[in-house]
Amino acid sequence: MKIRFSLSIAAVSALVFTACNQETAAPAAAPQPTKVVVEADTSVRAELFEDPHSYSREESKVTHLNWEAAVDFEKEVITANAVWTLEEGHGDTVIFDIKDLQVNEVLVDGSRALFAIEGDDPLLGSALVVPAPGAKTISILYKTSPEAEALQWYPAELTQGKRQPFLFTQSQAILARTWVPCQDRPGVRFTYEATVKVPKEVLALMSASNPTQKNDEGIYEFSMPQPIPSYLLALGVGDLAFIPLGERSGVYAEPEMVRNAAYEFAQTEDMIADAEEMYGPYYWGRYDMLVLPPSFPFGGMENPRLTFLTPTVVVGDMSLVSLIAHELAHSWSGNLVTNATWNDFWINEGFTVYFEMRIMEKLYGVDFADMLEALSYDDLQKELAVMLEENVEATSLKQDLKGKNPDDGVNAIAYDKGFHFLRLCENTVGREKWDEFLTYYFDKYKFKTMVTEVFLQELAGVMTQEQWDKVGVEQWVYGTGLPVNCPFPASNRFVVVDDAVAMMLNVDPDAADARSMAYLPQETTIRWTTQEWLRYIRGLEAGGATEGHYALADGNYGFSGSPNPEIVAAWYSAILKTGFEGYDNDIYTKKVESFLGSVGRRKFIVPMYQSMLEGDEKRQAWAKKIYMDSRASYHPLAQGTLDALFAEQM
Ligand code: BES
Ligand code: ZN
Repeated sequence: MKIRFSLSIAAVSALVFTACNQETAAPAAAPQPTKVVVEADTSVRAELFEDPHSYSREESKVTHLNWEAAVDFEKEVITANAVWTLEEGHGDTVIFDIKDLQVNEVLVDGSRALFAIEGDDPLLGSALVVPAPGAKTISILYKTSPEAEALQWYPAELTQGKRQPFLFTQSQAILARTWVPCQDRPGVRFTYEATVKVPKEVLALMSASNPTQKNDEGIYEFSMPQPIPSYLLALGVGDLAFIPLGERSGVYAEPEMVRNAAYEFAQTEDMIADAEEMYGPYYWGRYDMLVLPPSFPFGGMENPRLTFLTPTVVVGDMSLVSLIAHELAHSWSGNLVTNATWNDFWINEGFTVYFEMRIMEKLYGVDFADMLEALSYDDLQKELAVMLEENVEATSLKQDLKGKNPDDGVNAIAYDKGFHFLRLCENTVGREKWDEFLTYYFDKYKFKTMVTEVFLQELAGVMTQEQWDKVGVEQWVYGTGLPVNCPFPASNRFVVVDDAVAMMLNVDPDAADARSMAYLPQETTIRWTTQEWLRYIRGLEAGGATEGHYALADGNYGFSGSPNPEIVAAWYSAILKTGFEGYDNDIYTKKVESFLGSVGRRKFIVPMYQSMLEGDEKRQAWAKKIYMDSRASYHPLAQGTLDALFAEQM
């Protein structure tokens, strides 16, 4: 029989507490399996939805933004007026989050008003407190600082065309406040309009309706009629061209890159159609993509109507488009049904990885999706091993990030543990029923926020008590480590790769015929995609390949000179730990330096620097030198991560 009870705060903390005291626990050892249900107990709800990363308050929320801004590339500042419409019946004071903003004037319903700036937290910034009883609008005139963490000002010399500078924003998680005074938390949604003035040589784009061409005035109008949270506010400015991909989608990039990008992303329309077929309508009108300079610290960012992308996925063979599937999937999981606070980040990312895999399976077949899932599983195991040593609490899906940077929650737990949990749920209830459930879930909670506990309540509706217990739902969500019933993704295509790895590791690198012994026939490797090569490289690494093995592999397959950034990063992360200096030392040195000097994607460069710092003194000194030379070209977010990494080493 199903047991339901209304969850009290004590029950939540007890759950979290007991769970955190356990290492990787088998479901059998889980706390008494009882379906958890959050009913309309308002104090419980308030606590779960309370955001530790914003000064703004529930009783005084905004509903709409009218943003007028001018972008000054010379001074590297944005000067703007943010006019906020307030929710009816709001409280007497309205609070906004700001960080490194110079607030010049505040108008309440059009008249100059008093305001206070309170607090100065290195993580959260300050509260802009505006007394505004009964007011309809608050207008804030302000200027950004050149240090604004959300903004990357990219000099013309570093762009592909070398003609015009580039600017892009990255608001997630709590950086919107460094370029727009806002209620910077995912629990507040608003619609927006904007007018942005830029130099007339460049085009401005936002997470909104977008122009496709430059105009002579350099003034662009935007509108986002669907309510979004602040972390999805985005602006990109540069020398950009547009190529439509179909009815609803297209790609913006520098003219030098846009054709390649359009080729690479040619299947975007199919992805949208597949996603809609599985989980319901795409609510955002168009789906366009903007290819950013290589310093973009992420693979992608799901800014609504305009996904931001790293250029490192444009490799020529479409092998890395699962990134598009991922960012597109966020149009449902994340942008439509949004984690209420960053404590529930897995609600955004775990669901999105799950959805990404489903799109990839539908479009490229189960064998391809299996490879992606196996790589996700490997990532999870690798990160878990470290986290279980260093920070066990961080291995639960539900997090308590109060006092911490929400960036700390961006790891394989939210993404890959979250994904595997949902895959287990699917396996347990059956795909048909599960898909029906997800369609219902996205529809019921569209344009709303979601906390883990409400999701569990919904989940309780689709599972029998027996299934719930078998999965060990609470253990998965509140427990640490990886439950033993985690589905293991087996991949046919990786069986071949793993055999190849074993063959290589069996070769004695000093033997006369070593090179041919370790060589895989072209018929085998010709069809290998990036994923197979990644598995191969990681397999060598995990299998304890020696410098001799790496030399053979490099000689046979030319990894050191690969034009594919995903392969380059994996390869160098592996060999930089060893004494092996590439099959051709010249290529090796130049490639490492030029890669780290131009690419700023954290997923690539952090492991490379880490590997170098694990090496001897010479290599550590080399890492420091490269970092000093390259730091200025990295995004503030990547700088932050790497500063911390290097500080640890000192
Ligand atoms: N929304 C994230 C990126 C993000 C998360 C930025 C948290 C800032 C804070 C985006 O959708 C993402 O997950 N990107 C991944 C893509 C990958 C998992 C396919 C990335 O950039 O690596
Ligand atoms: Zn994501």
